[in-house]
Amino acid sequence: MALTFNNSYLKGFMSDHEIDALAPFIKTSHDMLHAGTGLGNDFLGWVNLPTDYDKEEFERIKKAAKKIQEQADVLVVLGIGGSYLGARAVIEVIKSQMYNNLAKKTPQIYFAGNSVSPSYLQEIISLCKGKDVAVNVISKSGTTTETALAFRVFKKLLEDKYGEGAKDRIYATTDRKKGTLKELSDKMGYETFVVPDDVGGRFSVLTAVGLLPIAAAGIDIDALMEGARAAQNALMDPSVETNDAYRYAATRFAMKQKGKAMELLVSFDPCFATMAEWYKQLYGESQGKDGKGLFPSSVTFSTDLHSLGQIIQDGSKMLFETFVDIKKPKQDFFIENDPDNMDGLNFLSNQEMSIVNATVMQATLLAHSEGGVPCAVLEMPTINEYEIGYLIYFFEKACAVEGYMMGINPFDQPGVESYKKNMFALLGKPGYEKLGEELKAKMGKE
Ligand code: PA5
Repeated sequence: MALTFNNSYLKGFMSDHEIDALAPFIKTSHDMLHAGTGLGNDFLGWVNLPTDYDKEEFERIKKAAKKIQEQADVLVVLGIGGSYLGARAVIEVIKSQMYNNLAKKTPQIYFAGNSVSPSYLQEIISLCKGKDVAVNVISKSGTTTETALAFRVFKKLLEDKYGEGAKDRIYATTDRKKGTLKELSDKMGYETFVVPDDVGGRFSVLTAVGLLPIAAAGIDIDALMEGARAAQNALMDPSVETNDAYRYAATRFAMKQKGKAMELLVSFDPCFATMAEWYKQLYGESQGKDGKGLFPSSVTFSTDLHSLGQIIQDGSKMLFETFVDIKKPKQDFFIENDPDNMDGLNFLSNQEMSIVNATVMQATLLAHSEGGVPCAVLEMPTINEYEIGYLIYFFEKACAVEGYMMGINPFDQPGVESYKKNMFALLGKPGYEKLGEELKAKMGKE
């Protein structure tokens, strides 16, 4: 058993024939993806990645992870977007959101290079004081400003602390042949890992981009790949009736046609929160183009039922929800009977807390659907490496096929360049002088 799509709460919002009517579009999109005839077809390396990955590099990742565990109290992972979110998501969902606070034999893992916040950077630097540190810098282009600037800082920190030995503590994940980071790594003698040419950032978690930090956290990357492989095999069928990823894709597509503007990914476990951030990037960057795309958002319940619950229940009917129903939590907690029952909570006692959490979910599903919010459900047996590998591939495939149904290129991100150009111009990067003047004039500056 792995991830399945349950549409039973969608009755009354969407009929089966609406999904059946999309079957030919799903089939065409599936064929385009597998024949490599669609837009962005030079970025399809992720499709067969769970079977066709570089086995030699995979073993090297496991060795490097072991070395990091032995040499470092702290691993600083530098990257942004697709070079950041997947690793963090998998570590937090499988280990814990509080991974760094738990007793463990693996290093603390801090993520930086995903902002230009000086305060955040100083905090990470202070957390490295007196500790043995290793750095994994991840950038496919090798030129992303946020990551490159942070790497300049941590490279110096390691060189000041370890001199020549710094190079044995720096691991670079970047392009196979080209780019500033690749050149620097070769010159300095860093161990390098590859972001394959045909795998875009947000589809790269199952390459060295995600796997090295994930393995350093003590997570079984063989089982992660095994789960992804199971999904690759299970989701080969082009039929919308039997392929759950495609039923999910068709449902999202139909929701947009019905005028919904946003999908809320709902979970009832805080460990899933960063996985939802990864989903947001996957869908936001893949589908948000040409004026199209559902806005991907997320909530963690019960927490957000007490902040956003009101507007979801009674506010504008712009959204639908997709619940991630984790059938068996990583750990359970037995609620004991209290003879005094001063808090009046004995109606909850003598059962596992997961039963209460599942009931909160049922209550919410009923309340939201009765309140006019369509709710789809993704049912997951539990959380472990295998199931998360499966889920990653499931979302990637559903997202890509829906992208082709929408008539967009799911594998580029031209819109991200706009802020970069302005940033370079305003910061005075050579080559951007003219735009800098134009922008300053617009801003009313000299
Ligand atoms: O999905 C993407 O392609 C982006 O989010 C990139 O991963 C992100 O911009 C980082 O790019 P790079 O790895 O080149 O530093």
